[in-house]
Amino acid sequence: MSKIFKYLKPYWLFALLCPLSMILEVSMDLIQPQLMSNIVDNGILGSGALDENLQYVLRTGILMLGFSLLGCAGGIASAAFGTTVAQKFGNDMRKDTFDKVMHLSFQQTDKFTTGSLVTRLTNDITAIQQFVAMSLRMFVRTGMQFLGGIACLLTLNVNFGLVLIISLPVQLTVVALIMKRAAPLFGVVQNKLDKVNSIVQENVTGARVVKAFTREEYEIDRFGNANSELMETNMKVQKLLAILNPILMVVMNASVMAIILIGGLQVEAKAMEVGSVMAAVTYITQILMSVMMVGMMFQQVSRAMASAKRVKEVLDTEPVIFDGNSGAKITEGKVEFKNVSFAYPNTSGKPVLKNINLTAQPGQMLAILGSTGCGKTSLVNLIPRFYDCTDGEVLIDGVNVKDYKLDDLRSNIGVVLQKSELFSGTVAENIRWGDDNASDDEVKLAAQTAQAEEFIQGFTDGYDTMISEKGASLSGGQKQRMSIARAILKKPKILIFDDSTSALDLSTEAKLHAALRERLTDVTVIMIAQRIASVMRADKIAVIDKSTICAFGTHAELMQTSKVYRDIYYSQMKEEGGASVG
Ligand SMILES: Nc1ncnc2c1ncn2[C@@H]1O[C@H](COP(=O)(O)OP(=O)(O)OP(=O)(O)O)[C@@H](O)[C@H]1O
Ligand SMILES: [Mg+2]
Repeated sequence: MSKIFKYLKPYWLFALLCPLSMILEVSMDLIQPQLMSNIVDNGILGSGALDENLQYVLRTGILMLGFSLLGCAGGIASAAFGTTVAQKFGNDMRKDTFDKVMHLSFQQTDKFTTGSLVTRLTNDITAIQQFVAMSLRMFVRTGMQFLGGIACLLTLNVNFGLVLIISLPVQLTVVALIMKRAAPLFGVVQNKLDKVNSIVQENVTGARVVKAFTREEYEIDRFGNANSELMETNMKVQKLLAILNPILMVVMNASVMAIILIGGLQVEAKAMEVGSVMAAVTYITQILMSVMMVGMMFQQVSRAMASAKRVKEVLDTEPVIFDGNSGAKITEGKVEFKNVSFAYPNTSGKPVLKNINLTAQPGQMLAILGSTGCGKTSLVNLIPRFYDCTDGEVLIDGVNVKDYKLDDLRSNIGVVLQKSELFSGTVAENIRWGDDNASDDEVKLAAQTAQAEEFIQGFTDGYDTMISEKGASLSGGQKQRMSIARAILKKPKILIFDDSTSALDLSTEAKLHAALRERLTDVTVIMIAQRIASVMRADKIAVIDKSTICAFGTHAELMQTSKVYRDIYYSQMKEEGGASVG
């Protein structure tokens, strides 16, 4: 709730003007039945001359019209103020939540899941926004209609109070009973919606894999189940709500009958006039209608509360990885791992890396070799702090990575991820992700170094060729080289390649290595690879086995000292017929 108020604060004036204009509208609504009753009692049934009575009817009629125009103006103003506040409120909240999501650490986005984050950013914030728009207008309207209606009704005749004493408790009990059962279901609806969104997202982004494995039927089934669950929960809510209004209508009609009965008796006894009974009918309808509105509002409130809780969870999540405060800057780019151990959060704490000691020198190429799943990606993820190590320390230029400001740290590290992610846009735009202000020549040079120039020139539009979403229009090797060019353009002190040349043939890879050596003379290059042929030229090679570094040295040294290395070497030689290795 306090979060909601915080977001309303900048728009407090409009937020105040909205209910105020609404007060004008409802006051005008409340006056109308009284004037109507005057027309009947003093005009139509009046005791004066016909001419005089007609005059009275006309005058009061014009007054009613005037009041109704005034009420109309109030209504329009109230709607305009309310909508403006709600829209701006939603806009701000969505921006802040998105901002938060952008700053969450990997382990936190893993926990929320992307599908759920999307629902929270769209559907949930919209529900809160609707609640704000409604409460600004409807709370005041309903409250005034209810209390004002009761006051007017009792002023007409105290005996009408009898009807209220019976009908109000009945209506309120019905509303309370149904809402008590419906309210918890709104949170469930949002969770089911999360699931539907997650499946849609997975399948839309992974459409190619789904088709390749002909998993369409399976995925359609999976979606169907999630979708049915969503529908069933929604149906449960709607069934409850469906019985609400008819019951309330019955109570209302019975109350109107009771009013007419009591009113009739009063008229008979000459204690009241016919017009006042008509007004009383309108008032009781307004009072009980406002109770029905309360029912509807409860529905919105419960829905908004469920959503607010979910959005708040995101807003309240503090990134676990945040800026250090040493103010140090990276100058050389020397990377050291000292007794580093690491386990993924949210797992049983089983370490993926144990006791790693490793140094990568500026101007050198350090290769990391190891079987699949041994922890190579996990190891390099600790350098730009995608995750933080659980034990020991990772140092750059002798300073713990945790002490750098994240921006200072990450802007000096170029990472080419194992899975190349490109974005829709031109080739040049994609490479410029590395540096917005790079000149055309710099972009070209980066592409040349990455061995991407040749295939880019082959495109009809060269650097202006559009790349479709996620780089779907490029081959695997082309995507890898685009990602490499993007990282090089950043001019980092440390350059990390996570299996980024796996899709390149050996001669292109050799050319890339040569270009890196020639042009990036003082950069620390850390290169993960599966192929011996890719790592042989490195200055140092670290072999990871059983979560730790089992051997370290040059190719020649490792051939002498490491059995694991020799085994990998010979097994790959056999596979490739020995032709390309050695
Ligand atoms: N986000 C994560 N949460 C929990 N466990 C993870 C996560 N990412 C990886 N792991 C686990 O950590 C281990 C090491 O994974 P990692 O990605 O570092 O291996 P890798 O050496 O890079 O493998 P590959 O050569 O196949 O890329 C694996 O057992 C994997 O299941
Ligand atoms: Mg990996």
